[in-house]
Amino acid sequence: MDGIADLRDRYLNEIGGAADEATLENVRLAALGKKGEVSLLMRSLGKMSPEERKTAGPALNALKNTLNDAITEAKDRLAAAALDARLATEWADVTLGARPSRQGSVHPISQVTEEVTTIFADLGFSVAEGPQIETDFYNFDALNISPEHPARQEMDTFYMARAEGSNAAPNVLRTHTSPVQIRHLEAHGTPCRVIAPGRVYRSDYDQTHTPMFHQIEGLAIDRDINMANLKWVLEEFFSAFFGTSVKTRFRSSYFPFTEPSAEVDIQCEWVDGQVRVGQGDDWLEVLGSGMVHPKVLKAAGVDPNEWQGFAFGMGIDRIAMLKYGIPDLRAFFDSDLRWLRHYGFGALDVPTLRGGV
Ligand code: PHE
Repeated sequence: MDGIADLRDRYLNEIGGAADEATLENVRLAALGKKGEVSLLMRSLGKMSPEERKTAGPALNALKNTLNDAITEAKDRLAAAALDARLATEWADVTLGARPSRQGSVHPISQVTEEVTTIFADLGFSVAEGPQIETDFYNFDALNISPEHPARQEMDTFYMARAEGSNAAPNVLRTHTSPVQIRHLEAHGTPCRVIAPGRVYRSDYDQTHTPMFHQIEGLAIDRDINMANLKWVLEEFFSAFFGTSVKTRFRSSYFPFTEPSAEVDIQCEWVDGQVRVGQGDDWLEVLGSGMVHPKVLKAAGVDPNEWQGFAFGMGIDRIAMLKYGIPDLRAFFDSDLRWLRHYGFGALDVPTLRGGV
C-alpha cells in the first residue's frame, strides 16, 4: 500500500522536525490520537474484505509501531536538548559568600551573672556552688530555721517526693542560695570570701515573681570582718555594676541566719515610670544581709568565738531588670526569640572592669 508508505514518510518527517515537546505531542495526536489519521485507518480494517485485511492489518500495525518508536526517540532527544540548554544558562557562583546565619545571644541572666562574678572576683571573692535539690538540713536547719519557724511557711517551698515509707524530712528545691554558705564552710573552712550564684525556687508567680529565679549569695568570714566591711563591699559592687556611684541604705531587718540583719536599698529615682539607679532620693530594695549568726557558723563546724563575718543574698534577675530596663520578670523565662534578640548580648560582649561592665 503506497498510502501507508506516504503516511509513514510524512509523519516521520514531522516527528524529526518537531522543535519542542509540545509540537511533538501535536504530531502524535494527529497520527495516533483517538481521531488520528492512523487510528482512523485501523478502525476501517473492519470494513475491508478478509483479503485486503491480510495485507493492510500488518502494514498498519507496523506503521503504528514505527511512529511510536520514532516519537519516543524524539522525546528523549528533545528532553536531553532542553537539559543541555538549561545547563548552559543556569550556573552557580561558588565564589559567593555564604548566606548570613542567625546568631544566638547571651541571656541577660547569664550576662549579669558574669558581670557580678567579674566585679566580685576583683574584690577577692571566688565562686562557690551547691545543688538545686537541697536537703532540709542545709536549706533550713543549718541556717537556724527550725521546723516550726514561720520562715518555712513564708518561703513557699517546693518539696520533693519522699522515698516510700520514709519519715525523713523531704528534700526541697532550694529556696535561697544560703545553703551554699554551709556547704562551702564545711568543705573549705575559714577564712573565706565567696559568692554563690544560682537558681532558687519558690511557689510564686506575678509580674515580679517567678517560681524559679536567681540569687547570688555572698559570704566573707575572717577574724574581724564587720558590718562596715559589708557596706563598703556592697557600695563598691553596686557602683561598678551600674557604672555610677551608688549610695546604699541599710534598714534593720530579721533573718534567722544573720544577727544583726539588714535589708539593703540602693539609691534611685523614678523618671516617667522608669527607674534610674545612682541618682535622686528614692530607694529600692535589692538584697538581704547581715552578720552570720553564731549558730550558723557552729552548724558549719566553725568556732564563732574565733571567726565572724557577713553574708548577703541578692536577686540577680532584679538587678538585671534595673540595669537593662527590663520591665517584666516573667519574660526572662518565656524563651521568646524576639525578646532574646532584643535583650540578649553578643557572645563577645565579655564584661571587663575597665569602662564599666
Ligand atoms: N537568703 C535570704 C533570702 O533569700 C537572703 C539573705 C542571704 C539574707 C544572706 C541574709 C544573708 O531572702
